[in-house]
Amino acid sequence: MTSPSSPSAGTPPEAPENPLERLRTDRGVDLATVDLTFEGFRALAQNPHLTANERIGFPDAYRDGFEEAILRDIVAKLPVLLGERATIVDIGPGCAGLPHRLIDLCRQRQHRLVLVDSHEMLQQLPDVDGVTVKIAGSFPAASSAIHDAVPSADAVLCYSVFHYIFADGNPFDFLDSVIQLLASGGRALIADIPNISKRRRFFATETGRQYHKTFTGTDTEPDLRYNEPSRGKIDDAVLLGLMQRAQAAGADAYLVPQASDLPMSNRRDDLLITRA
Ligand SMILES: C[S@@+](CC[C@H](N)C(=O)[O-])C[C@H]1O[C@@H](n2cnc3c(N)ncnc32)[C@H](O)[C@@H]1O
Repeated sequence: MTSPSSPSAGTPPEAPENPLERLRTDRGVDLATVDLTFEGFRALAQNPHLTANERIGFPDAYRDGFEEAILRDIVAKLPVLLGERATIVDIGPGCAGLPHRLIDLCRQRQHRLVLVDSHEMLQQLPDVDGVTVKIAGSFPAASSAIHDAVPSADAVLCYSVFHYIFADGNPFDFLDSVIQLLASGGRALIADIPNISKRRRFFATETGRQYHKTFTGTDTEPDLRYNEPSRGKIDDAVLLGLMQRAQAAGADAYLVPQASDLPMSNRRDDLLITRA
């Protein structure tokens, strides 16, 4: 997604929704062409030429130095993480810094942490006796294995994963399965969701236009097309549909902002689901 006005080859014309568009590495791997399905991530996980961030689809610049702030934001929305002996399920932990921090926190707090991802991702995370339970497989297909391992979850975390599930599977089936996992009083945080409606709203503002110009190093205007189908993209309609679906299942659902110190907070949303 380069344009003749791009400052250099490989730089996209605006802040990309898919960070891999920035990942034309100098190691001869063109990650912009990687198909980010569960299987695509499995292949990334095995690529020895990539950093841990790149194996989960992020340029290092999108995560280095931000993990602490991301975890802080997660803990604020899932306060049970600061309690003790809770059951936490992380859907799609990947293999970079965030799950390592979460594992450390769960070790300190004596939580049980169920990690659900491909074997190739999970094998890059430590096994901690009495803390981690690894379930190799994709969600929601892995739901019954999770139910076999733990009766229910006090918190379900799914960070920066939902957009791949949306493109690859049935988002309502995913949501129904998340809600079925929740214990009473439990919370699910489906977070870091790229919302194209939010993105358009932002880039239509003066702040957004300036952000675009600074990001691209050009004097171009952001692309604000909206009156056309957004195939494969998540918009307000998808998120509101998920909220209605969750509430019809007896949970409460809230669309909440990310902390402003997170790298993509101007175009991403978090969906918080609580069960009484
Ligand atoms: C962008 S990475 C996010 C990793 C981690 N949550 C983070 O934010 O650091 C997406 C991860 O989700 C996993 N994934 C994708 N689809 C999945 C599914 N249906 N079930 C479980 N994991 C999935 C991928 O293998 C990958 O590890």
